[in-house]
Amino acid sequence: MGNDFCPDATVRTILKATEELNTLNDVDTILDKILWEARQLSGADAGSIFLVKDGQLNFSYVQNDTLFQTDESNAAIYTDFALPMTEDSIVGYAALTGETLVIDDAYEIEATKPYSFNKSFDEKSGYRTTSMLNLPIKSHENKLVGVMQLINARNRQGEVGPFPAECVTYLPLLANNASVAIQRGIINRELILRMMQMAEMRDPTETGPHVQRVGAYCAEIYHRMATKRGVCIKETKRYRDHIRLAAMLHDVGKVGISDTILKKPGKLTNEEFAIIKMHTVMGARLFKNQTSDLDHMSMEIALRHHEKWAGNGYPGNVPDIWSDSVQPGTPLTGKAIPLSARICAVADVFDALTSHRSYKDAWPNEKAYMILQDDAGTHFDPEVVEAFMDITGVIKAIQAKYQEQPHD
Ligand code: C2E
Ligand code: SIN
Ligand code: SIN
Ligand code: FE
Ligand code: FE
Repeated sequence: MGNDFCPDATVRTILKATEELNTLNDVDTILDKILWEARQLSGADAGSIFLVKDGQLNFSYVQNDTLFQTDESNAAIYTDFALPMTEDSIVGYAALTGETLVIDDAYEIEATKPYSFNKSFDEKSGYRTTSMLNLPIKSHENKLVGVMQLINARNRQGEVGPFPAECVTYLPLLANNASVAIQRGIINRELILRMMQMAEMRDPTETGPHVQRVGAYCAEIYHRMATKRGVCIKETKRYRDHIRLAAMLHDVGKVGISDTILKKPGKLTNEEFAIIKMHTVMGARLFKNQTSDLDHMSMEIALRHHEKWAGNGYPGNVPDIWSDSVQPGTPLTGKAIPLSARICAVADVFDALTSHRSYKDAWPNEKAYMILQDDAGTHFDPEVVEAFMDITGVIKAIQAKYQEQPHD
C-alpha cells in the first residue's frame, strides 16, 4: 500500500489470502501466512502475533526481516512468554480496547497514555522499533482471539515511516477474516493432544510435551531439508503444515497395547516386544479411510516410523494391515520408507533418548547427537541426520518451550 494504492486489489489480496488459509491445518503455518500477508500489504519489516490463552496474551509467532536469518527465525517462534491482559503494554491495550492502535514512533509515546513501550527487546537485539500497527484479531462473534503487531512500515525506497492510512482501514479485515483459521488451527492441535492423552493413560512416556516436541522437530527438520533441496516455498509450507500434526500422532497405535506391557518398568521379553511392534499397524488402521493428504501422511508415519534406512526395522511389508494374523514382514529400506517417516524416526528417537523413561534416564543432547550420527546410514537416513545437526539451536529452543511438567 504505497503511492500506487488500489482498494480493489487490496480487497482481492485479502480475500485470496483468506481462501488460502483454509487449506492449512496447523496453527503455526496459519500464523506464518497471516503475518506474511499483513507484512506484504503494509511493508512492515517485522511483526508478531499474540494469542489469548488462559486470560493472558501468549507470544505465538514472529517474523523479522532485519534480525532473523531463516534458522534464527525458526528458533524465535519457540520463544515462550506471555503478557498479562493489562493496559500498560501496547499489545494489552489493543486487546482490552479491541481497537486498532497506530503508533508513529514507539520512543515518542506521550506520557499521558496508559501504555508505554517496553524497550527490553530492542536493547537486547539492537533493533530499533519505530512505527507500530496493533490489530486486535476478533472472531465473528466479536470474541478476542489475539493481537497482531506490525513493526516498521517501509516505503518503496526501504525507508521506515508511519503506517499509511490505508493499512489502518484494510488490515483489520485481514485480521478478522483470519480468526476462523486461527481457531481451527488451535482446535486441531488440541484434538490431537487429547487423542494422544488417551494413549498416554496407557503409556505415561507419550506425554503432551513429548508429542509437541516430536511434531516441532519434524517440522523444522523437514524445513531445513526442503531449503537444502531447493523445494519451492509453497510446497515447503504445505508439507510442513502436515508433518507438524501428523508426527504428533506417530504412536497413536499404543492405545491398542495392553497396560502390563506398555507400563512395564524393566526390559521387555521378545514376546512382549513383538506385541509392542503392532502399535505401528494399529495406528495405521486409524487412518485407513484416508480423506485428506493429512490423513495419508498420518498413516505413513504411524506405520513406518520404526523402519530403518538399511533395513531391520518394523513392521516391514504387511500385505493386509486388517488381517487378524498380521505379522512383521521384510523390512523396508532407503527411500522406500516415506520421507515423513524417515524424519519422524530421527525426531522420535532423539526425544526418547533425551527424555526420562521407565526403563532409562534422560541423556544429555550431546550424547544423543552422537547416537544419531553413529546410526546415520544404518538406522537413519543420513540426509535427515545432517539436517537435524544443522539446526541444533532450534532443537534446543523447542526443548525449552515444551518441557515436561513435574510429575506428582
Ligand atoms: P519409545 O520409548 O518412545 O522409544 C522410541 C524409540 O527410541 C525406540 O524404538 C528406540 O529406537 C529408541 N530408543 C528408546 N530408548 C533407547 C535407548 O535407551 N537406547 C537406544 N539406542 N535407543 C532407544 P523401539 O526400540 O522400537 O521401541 C518402541 C517402543 O517400545 C518404545 O517407545 C517403548 O514404548 C517400548 N520399549 C522399547 N524397549 C523397552 C523396554 O526395554 N522396556 C519397556 N518398558 N518398554 C520398551
Ligand atoms: C522433494 O521434492 O525432493 C521432496 C519434497 C517433499 O518432501 O514433498
Ligand atoms: C518424498 O517426498 O517422499 C520423496 C523424496 C524422498 O523420499 O526423499
Ligand atoms: Fe513408536
Ligand atoms: Fe514416541
